[in-house]
Amino acid sequence: MQTVKFFRRAQVPLEFHKVKVVQKVDLVSVERRFDAIKEAKFNTFRLNTKDIFLDMLTDSGTNAMSDCQMSAMFRADEAYAGSASFERLAESIDMVFGLKLILPVHQGRAAENIICKTFVKQGDIVPMNYHFTTSMAHIVENGGEIAELLYDNALEIRSKEPFKGNMNLEKLDSLISKVGVEKIPFIRIEASTNLIGGQPFSLKNLRGVHNIAKKHGVMLVMDASLIGENAYLIKERETECFNMSIAQILKEMVSLSDMIYFSARKLSSSRGGAICTNREDLFAKMQDLVPLYEGFFTYGGISIKEIESMAVGLLETVDEGVISQSPLFIEKLVSILDENGIPVVMPAGVLGCHVDAKNFCSHIPQNEYPAGALAAAFYLISGVRGMERGTISSTRDKDGNDILADMELLRLAIPRRVFTLSQIEYVADRLIWLFENRDIIGGLKFVEEPRVLRFFKGGLEPVSDWPVKLMERFRLDFGDSL
Ligand code: F0G
Repeated sequence: MQTVKFFRRAQVPLEFHKVKVVQKVDLVSVERRFDAIKEAKFNTFRLNTKDIFLDMLTDSGTNAMSDCQMSAMFRADEAYAGSASFERLAESIDMVFGLKLILPVHQGRAAENIICKTFVKQGDIVPMNYHFTTSMAHIVENGGEIAELLYDNALEIRSKEPFKGNMNLEKLDSLISKVGVEKIPFIRIEASTNLIGGQPFSLKNLRGVHNIAKKHGVMLVMDASLIGENAYLIKERETECFNMSIAQILKEMVSLSDMIYFSARKLSSSRGGAICTNREDLFAKMQDLVPLYEGFFTYGGISIKEIESMAVGLLETVDEGVISQSPLFIEKLVSILDENGIPVVMPAGVLGCHVDAKNFCSHIPQNEYPAGALAAAFYLISGVRGMERGTISSTRDKDGNDILADMELLRLAIPRRVFTLSQIEYVADRLIWLFENRDIIGGLKFVEEPRVLRFFKGGLEPVSDWPVKLMERFRLDFGDSL
């Protein structure tokens, strides 16, 4: 790693890029933010850019592109079929992952649709380290269910365990023996396990999962949307891998799976997605669904310009100076918050900083959505848009009761190369203030609730007038500041 040691200051995450194009952002007044969050029905997904100062909703499609990616977009070969741009993408995928059979799809969940439609049938069980919202929804829509097999310490908020995303090998082995391979279409392992705080698995653990999958003759599918950052943390944290390059780690991770799929919105700082494998039999089973749901085999619903930026973005994923940028900024924010007593998922993971809302708002019962309330409250007092990752992102059981999430997290995403250190300091400052005033925050309740993936469009309202009180306290402490 190209570390730069500082002479007089604590370690600073130093950027290996310079800014060429910027987008202006505005910080509107707290009164306008109050109206905006009310209009958005207390769901940060429903806020509009004009009311947002720092958009930390997600890293999906929001990572900054490089000059090389942007310039590659101009050579897009806009052929409906047989595009040269697809050949360049295939070349990159082969170079980075060593995989030759590719099904392009418009984004990650489209890959999940094709994989689940092909392999999941009524009554199936898909073992995984942990679910992602869209992956679970596709498995369930096809009649299957999921089995989450983490180690017990994975859900501990403050931990020193470097690989909380590890799949529990003993549980995996015994689950397969118990339910039988005919009920298990595949094992799913997610790189940098998103919903538990962007936590990686180790290469050693992946080898273990691979061996169990082989022993039982079950297919191993990797969700590789955040594989680059997982590989970076393997290099940083797994003793045996200190001397491996990111490129070597990535190749080995992929070689242990039968198939990978990804959201290019994350992986390659572009748009799009793909399913990749070297197994002809799996490829043959899935390929007819690409022209049915996505587009022709050589563009799969992705704009050709984005295919070019994907091809370049993938190659940049193996560059340590690129792939380390977001995790280093996250580590910085996590450490400032931790020093100030704010409960955050530790150790720092990838994708974003994850604030533990169960602890931050311990006075709010889980069925009043502490993470959703914290996301709304934080927007109100800062103009920073984070995302609820808790019970609102979960669903209801057959009797209509909320299935309470294992973790109630406010995710503050830090996309690659987007924010500056002073903006990170601002986020920390406002969060420290909110923590001191956390008793004012109250719960939320649904007033509009979609059946599937309710967190995207659902509407909520506060259980009391707590947002007004919070706004008043803000004015009291910050005077006429924005
Ligand atoms: N798998 C993982 C691990 C993801 O994080 C995502 C998306 C998907 C699959 C689906 O990909 O959005 O391209 O369809 N995660 C985004 C997020 C939405 O904000 O974390 P997609």
